[in-house]
Amino acid sequence: MTATGAMVTEIAMAGLATTTHTVRMGNVITDGEIVVSGLTKHYKQVKAVDGLSFAIKPGRVTGFLGPNGAGKTTTLRMILNLVSPTAGTATIGGSRYADLAEPLRAVGAVLEASSAHKGRTGRNHLRVICAAAGLPASRADEAMELVGLTPAAKRKFKGYSLGMRQRLGIAAAMLGDPRVLILDEPANGLDPEGIRWMRDLLQKLAGEGRTILVSSHLLSEMELLADDVVIIAAGRLVAQGAVADVIGNAGSAGTVRVRTPHPDTLLEALAGVASSRDDGALVLTGVTAEQVGDAALRAGVAIHGLVTERPDLERVFLDLTAGKEAIR
Ligand SMILES: Nc1ncnc2c1ncn2[C@@H]1O[C@H](COP(=O)(O)OP(=O)(O)O)[C@@H](O)[C@H]1O
Ligand SMILES: [Mg+2]
Repeated sequence: MTATGAMVTEIAMAGLATTTHTVRMGNVITDGEIVVSGLTKHYKQVKAVDGLSFAIKPGRVTGFLGPNGAGKTTTLRMILNLVSPTAGTATIGGSRYADLAEPLRAVGAVLEASSAHKGRTGRNHLRVICAAAGLPASRADEAMELVGLTPAAKRKFKGYSLGMRQRLGIAAAMLGDPRVLILDEPANGLDPEGIRWMRDLLQKLAGEGRTILVSSHLLSEMELLADDVVIIAAGRLVAQGAVADVIGNAGSAGTVRVRTPHPDTLLEALAGVASSRDDGALVLTGVTAEQVGDAALRAGVAIHGLVTERPDLERVFLDLTAGKEAIR
């Protein structure tokens, strides 16, 4: 385990240990909604997270998006009680992580590409965690099966590829059969097939009613993985909602690409429309193809090509988060 992974397990085990004495006192997770309210973490120089509020629904895959340094990892670590907030709260099913009766059974977390004892097999790595957490050893095989690692169960960890290590990390997080799964940049270093595999797994787990919160700095990845998104920049909320709504509301209209022998005349007829030139074509923003066609007809300009391009999702994301990095 990495330091962070070990910490999650340690805290989870501390939680499990206390439950033997305080079974009725602990807060058993009822539903897996994650609610973040006014969450803030200020370091000396940096407002890493700054008054962040959002809610993550069970039964959906939610993408937690933001450029590098936006505060995603800090937020996830506060949700998991690994970093203490300067202000605000984060709850899971109504309880703070620290108050959960059985954290390992409530919340699984993969904070970075997991590592393990190099000479240990993947399966034994999971069995060690099971033993420490008071889970039956059979969960190790079930979790290996869940992430498609059964064929590699008896291979040593040092021979695992990055993708296999990512899978093993998810398997470890799923050992306690948690209602909530939190993953920090799990797609880092995965190839397209690996990302497709992860999408299928996360959507299956969400379909079982679990809450899946997965961070990334790449919108293109989230477009594949997520139902909902929460977008942050410079520690603050920028947008949240269903992926399609966020993209639709972002105000980044699509562009219209038009080929004409008389671009300047056409631009005059389209007074005020923002344009750029690319590969001999005019790229127009904020107009429809119909408007361009009508303007061309009025101006008597021939059109050799007219294509509407759907909003570039990476562009939407960059527009939403633009300039926010410069603040810090
Ligand atoms: N322990 C720390 N001490 C000081 N600054 C930190 C610490 N952890 C994170 N930061 C700063 O907080 C900001 C947010 O970091 P992080 O949460 O890791 O962002 P992300 O995961 O979105 O890339 C960054 O500017 C980072 O340098
Ligand atoms: Mg991070």
